[in-house]
Amino acid sequence: MNRNLAMEFVRVTEAAAIASARLMGRGDEKAADQAAVDAMRSMLDSIDCQATVVIGEGERDEAPMLYIGEEVGTRNGPKLEIALDPLEGTTICAHGGYNSISVMAIGEPGGLLHAPDTYMLKIAAGPEARGKLDIRQSPTENLKRLADIKKCRIADLTAIVLDRPRHKELIEEIRSAGARIYLIGDGDVSAAIATATPNSGIDILFGIGGAPEGVIAAAALQCLRGEFQGILQPRNQGEIERAKRMGVDDINRVFQIEDLARGNLMFVATGVTQGNFLDGIVFKPWGCTSHSLVMRSESGTIRHIRAEHHFDKKPRY
Ligand code: FBP
Repeated sequence: MNRNLAMEFVRVTEAAAIASARLMGRGDEKAADQAAVDAMRSMLDSIDCQATVVIGEGERDEAPMLYIGEEVGTRNGPKLEIALDPLEGTTICAHGGYNSISVMAIGEPGGLLHAPDTYMLKIAAGPEARGKLDIRQSPTENLKRLADIKKCRIADLTAIVLDRPRHKELIEEIRSAGARIYLIGDGDVSAAIATATPNSGIDILFGIGGAPEGVIAAAALQCLRGEFQGILQPRNQGEIERAKRMGVDDINRVFQIEDLARGNLMFVATGVTQGNFLDGIVFKPWGCTSHSLVMRSESGTIRHIRAEHHFDKKPRY
């Protein structure tokens, strides 16, 4: 995969982040998401590639743009697959909270799991834990393993968990194992990345979130050489059937990181609101600043890109 493409794709998440950041704190999730979708869709068509959206805004009949199976790009260039979320953390953005991002993972054909839009039980951690955790084991057991690997006490570990009623028992177990907990309202892609980000203060992610977000997080953790495992959690028979149609025969299968995202991968994300590893968009009299993360699994390069966007030269903003 041409490495320069990564620098092209970051323009796409920048555009989506700027568009949705305009609507930060306005209480309108739909409008913020739509602004990100519109900006991402139009910018994607300026990139020289033949890309198919494998994780997007939904099925064709429910999403007019960036739907699963949509072809994007100029049609000149390499064949790619894209898993995208124009605004990950729509509620966060609408309420002006922390850690909403615009994000895309890019793989070669067959590189990204075509995940159904259901839930996924997830575990994520940094590079030292790669291949050493087991999602089938209890959170207590995985905390013990991580404490051994990190040569610390469980009490020194911080787990990040989505604050949801479904996680009541999980939270109780983590507490009784002795670890600290960082509860978040939304945004488990950012949360998974935080586990592999030095100095984030986050060691491990546990819990159930969106399956599409799981694939995006797995691609990020491949670039960061971290660990990620997932098991689909369908809510009804319809979701099981849908998963089967998408090629998942064993609904209880443990997806290892390689099953979710493999081969040459690129990951790009731009902060919309202020966050743990990305600053949010800041508007200025002349334009705005943005902060993006660009990673490639092949080279292992992790780039932080801080950009100034001068609106007199970029009328689209
Ligand atoms: P959106 O950006 O689509 O609102 O997703 C936010 C999010 O918190 C994800 O990060 C997470 O995977 C999922 O929602 C959890 O779903 P739910 O809010 O239904 O628990």
